[in-house]
Amino acid sequence: MTARPKIILDCDPGHDDAMAILIAAHHTDLLGITTVSGNAPLEMTTRNALLVSQIADIDVEVHSGADRPLHVEPKHASHVHGRTGLDGPVLPELERRVVSTDAVTFIIDTVRQNDDVWLVPVGPLTNIALAFMAAPDIVERIAGISLMGGSAGPGNVTPVAEFNIWADPHAAHLVLASSAPRIIMAGLNLTSQYMVDQVTADRLNAMGSVTGTFAAQVVEAYVEAGLRIRGVPSANMHDPCAVMAVTHPNLFTWTDSHVDVSTEGITIGMTVVDDRGFGSAEPNVEVLRNIERDAAIEVFVGSVATYR
Ligand code: RIB
Ligand code: CA
Repeated sequence: MTARPKIILDCDPGHDDAMAILIAAHHTDLLGITTVSGNAPLEMTTRNALLVSQIADIDVEVHSGADRPLHVEPKHASHVHGRTGLDGPVLPELERRVVSTDAVTFIIDTVRQNDDVWLVPVGPLTNIALAFMAAPDIVERIAGISLMGGSAGPGNVTPVAEFNIWADPHAAHLVLASSAPRIIMAGLNLTSQYMVDQVTADRLNAMGSVTGTFAAQVVEAYVEAGLRIRGVPSANMHDPCAVMAVTHPNLFTWTDSHVDVSTEGITIGMTVVDDRGFGSAEPNVEVLRNIERDAAIEVFVGSVATYR
């Protein structure tokens, strides 16, 4: 039995972030959750991370982080996740509090005090970039970065850019250019293969548990957003892919490719994946290409089933 990977989950809950928390808390040694402005303002993404850990009774520290990107203006995705970042599910009164409002120091200290920590950012990369700038020594210390972001195909917020990268392109550029031992990218080309719909929501509801009912309501709200935006009653489970790339690598295929990030102009936020083969630049990223969807759905449903 291999040891559970030690991870810090950096997120902007967000419906899919919320499901990523449930998978991470079950399948990893979750050293902490850090929050960042993204799907919603920092106050809301932090509230949502606390609520998910409260609903599922997960014993994990939450540290809030950056409330704005490095240079561009804050952008949110309320058209997908709602004003609160987690519209849809019935939510309890918030009882939990953050351990600190300094996610960057938490990331730095945790990496310095633990070997082989994976950083798993599933929102804009602001906190990770700030930590790398403040403490360059941690870049070589981590096991790697497994991020949800970018795309080896079309974007979502623009024809070429994916939201997490687009929301803070300068942070993404810095992180992807870092000398981290490994960088795994779960881009839209991959996460578009990992869709859930009412069938999965029904399985979660049938659990008859607090967390199963919550997860079902999250999926249903996310599916409704898919219907509203794309005309299809399904939802991409983007963020769980970055977690499972660390916990269940056997479910994925990938290529070692060079990836850079555009930080200006019409392509701002685009991840430029060099698939030329001949003449390609030195690979710096493991770009996920395929996922075994059905098995990955069982990882998700099976994780939810372990909570109250
Ligand atoms: O583009 C998808 C990403 O943006 C996901 O992480 C989702 O939660 C949003 O943050
Ligand atoms: Ca996210």
